[in-house]
Order: sequence, then C-alpha cells, then structure tokens
Amino acid sequence: MRLVAPSLLAANFGNLKQELEMINDSQADWLHLDVMDGVFVPNISFGFPVLQQVAAICHKPLDVHLMIVEPQKFIKEVKGLHATYMNVHYEACTHLHRVVHAIKEEGMKAGVTLNPHTPVHLLEDILPDLDLVLLMAVNPGYGGQVFIENTYHKVHALREMITKSHSKALIQVDGGVTADNADRLYKAGVDVLVAGTSVFRTPDPKGAIMALKGDK
Ligand code: DX5
Ligand code: ZN
Repeated sequence: MRLVAPSLLAANFGNLKQELEMINDSQADWLHLDVMDGVFVPNISFGFPVLQQVAAICHKPLDVHLMIVEPQKFIKEVKGLHATYMNVHYEACTHLHRVVHAIKEEGMKAGVTLNPHTPVHLLEDILPDLDLVLLMAVNPGYGGQVFIENTYHKVHALREMITKSHSKALIQVDGGVTADNADRLYKAGVDVLVAGTSVFRTPDPKGAIMALKGDK
C-alpha cells in the first residue's frame, strides 16, 4: 500500500479551515493529528476542543497520534472525533495490551508508536492485536527534523515480523519524510507515510501529496 497522511502540525493554524479544505480536495488518504502534552514530549500542540473543529471540517479518515502520558484516559475523547486510528506510544503504556483492547472495544483501529530508540522486537507479543505500527523516524515533539537513517532497518525487521506472525498491521513512518525518501520507504515495506513540513510548508501542498504517493 502507498498511503499518505499529511500531519496537521505543520499547517498554518491561522487558516485552519482553508488548510483542511485543501486536504479534503487532495489525494491525501488520511489526516494525521499530533497531540502533545509537554510531559511525554517537550512540546504542546493542540487538544480536543481544536480537534473537534478539525473533525467537523475534514472528510478524510483521522489518524490520531497521542504523544502523551496515560493515553488510555482519552479513548472516549478520541472516539468522539470519529477517529479511525488511535495511536499510543509503547513508551507511554505500562499495560499496553489493555490499552490496545480498550481502543478496539470502542470501535477504533489500534496503533502503537515506537520512539527511535525502541526496538521493534518488543512488539512481538502484541503484534497480532495491532492494526498499525508507527515507527518514529525523529524524536517526537517537533516537525521539521532530520530523518534518522536507522529507520530503514526497523522497517525491514518489522515487515519480517508481520509476515511471520500473519499480523494485519500496517507500517507507518513519521518524521522527516519527503518526496526524496518516500520511494525508498515504500520499497522497504512502509504502507503509510506521515508528512508535515514537506506537505504544508511548500507552495503546492496538493502536488507534494501526489509526489509522496509517487504520482508526479
Ligand atoms: C513529530 C510528529 C510528526 C510531525 C512530522 O513529533 O509526530 O507527525 O508532524 O513533521 P515532519 O514531517 O515535518 O517531520
Ligand atoms: Zn505524528
């Protein structure tokens, strides 16, 4: 699969409605929403009052990436957005199995996100329960950072684990994704690319989305 999920973090929030209408009108597959709490990551982004407005305007499936401690406290709020995917960090969940199943019980797809230092093999026992694994290619907290090359090894290793375990999980990569590394990432086994800066901070965001999908 070659899906693209633009990350709203890099949008112009002064023109949020126009940015979302651009996404509706684009070939974007999902909209990626980065929630930060200033505790799990050293930055704060936006919260549910903003996301409710986003959800009311955006017609694309919502992919909510929670960079927060205790994400299980917000399952109902994410469901209230009619989100398709709820992504929680492996590093933020002591009882990850319980959290994943609580997300699925609310009718959402469950994603687990790994920081750059967290090895993919730690997912071995939870992989059959997951709909998505998000590999961070930067340390989470900010857009516009440089892609960490070791991510390619992680993608290959995770793809092998998914094949062996017959898991249906999609592989998503987030951070430093551009039209220059997109093709190599898809070829390595990625299904969904998240891109903030390389979509919203360009003169032609819709063209940038097409370039990420390989349709130039
Ligand atoms: C970073 C966020 C990313 C961010 C990516 O913590 O999880 O989704 O928006 O931004 P770029 O594409 O600019 O690296
Ligand atoms: Zn993200």
